[in-house]
Amino acid sequence: MAAIVTTDLSKSYKQLGKATVHSLSGLNMEVGENEIFGFLGRNGAGKTTAIKLLTGLIRASRGGAEIFGKDSRLPDARAHIGYLPEHPYFYEYLTPRESLEFYAELRGVEKSRRKSEWLRISEMLDLDEFADRRIRGFSKGMRQRVGLAVSLIGDPPLLILDEPMSGLDPHGRRMVRELMLRLRSEGKTVFFSSHILSDVEEISDRVAILVSGKLAASGRIEDLSGDGEKAIELCCTGLKGEALNALAARGMKGTADEEGRIRFLVPDVDQSAGLITEIQQQGGILLSMVPVLESLEDFFTKLEQRDPSSGRKETKSAAKETESHE
Ligand SMILES: Nc1ncnc2c1ncn2[C@@H]1O[C@H](COP(=O)(O)OP(=O)(O)O)[C@@H](O)[C@H]1O
Ligand SMILES: [Mg+2]
Repeated sequence: MAAIVTTDLSKSYKQLGKATVHSLSGLNMEVGENEIFGFLGRNGAGKTTAIKLLTGLIRASRGGAEIFGKDSRLPDARAHIGYLPEHPYFYEYLTPRESLEFYAELRGVEKSRRKSEWLRISEMLDLDEFADRRIRGFSKGMRQRVGLAVSLIGDPPLLILDEPMSGLDPHGRRMVRELMLRLRSEGKTVFFSSHILSDVEEISDRVAILVSGKLAASGRIEDLSGDGEKAIELCCTGLKGEALNALAARGMKGTADEEGRIRFLVPDVDQSAGLITEIQQQGGILLSMVPVLESLEDFFTKLEQRDPSSGRKETKSAAKETESHE
């Protein structure tokens, strides 16, 4: 059974005297059990809105969502979810140990189980070193660990994490990634949002990309990046401006990096052979030749350039999505 299914999930905010804000429009998405699913989009794309709908914190204007087959508005569905809000709130005068005790009680974890729950979670997040210090003086990274700890209370099968890596340093980001991988290895489903591509790219089994409240693309990263478009990248040095112009005039345009290396992208091996000859004839030295996939970043940028709110009506994938549901 899918962990999350959304059908036409939509949220609009009507504001007096202002234009209605369509924060989320017709989201159709399915998250499989035991996946790490990355929910990607720039700030304001609608990620938090979607997450609040999934966790039952706000009501949909249209459509709905199911969590393990149960309507997301029901407490029964919520019992399956561990949730990390975008801006977790803490009682500053409590310690992590006390906070977890407090939330465990709130979540209905029996008293006899709370001690073992603390041990399990504090080990996963390395909380021991500051278990009995007040949260008040904690750094962003320490707070995030406490927030994540709270989401793990009761060992829920689905974790919904809103920007879990945001504001963390590289060490903190790695900690979050490792936690997500561990959760997956334990059979859990992890659904997390981010506006930073590399955080999502690295560990997600599948991703969905939101642009202006609409699903612009979803699928496995390998399938999304470049729609399978491969290319060969040649990197060389020692080419003068004249030589570059001559090559560009024949459709082989290189781009220079800060260290003066020139990179060319050609579609296939035949063309790369031709280009290598040219480079050598112009006095250049070939440094490397590697097959590359169009990066997800390029793909992401392309999707945003086709943003429905900036001209075009709908992206190709979003249009497909609508067709298949009507
Ligand atoms: N309570 C609200 N009232 C009006 N507009 C809102 C409200 N909450 C969110 N929005 C708007 O909805 C859009 C999506 O916001 P959000 O879901 O927070 O995006 P993200 O999490 O991707 O950054 C933004 O334009 C935001 O200003
Ligand atoms: Mg957000």
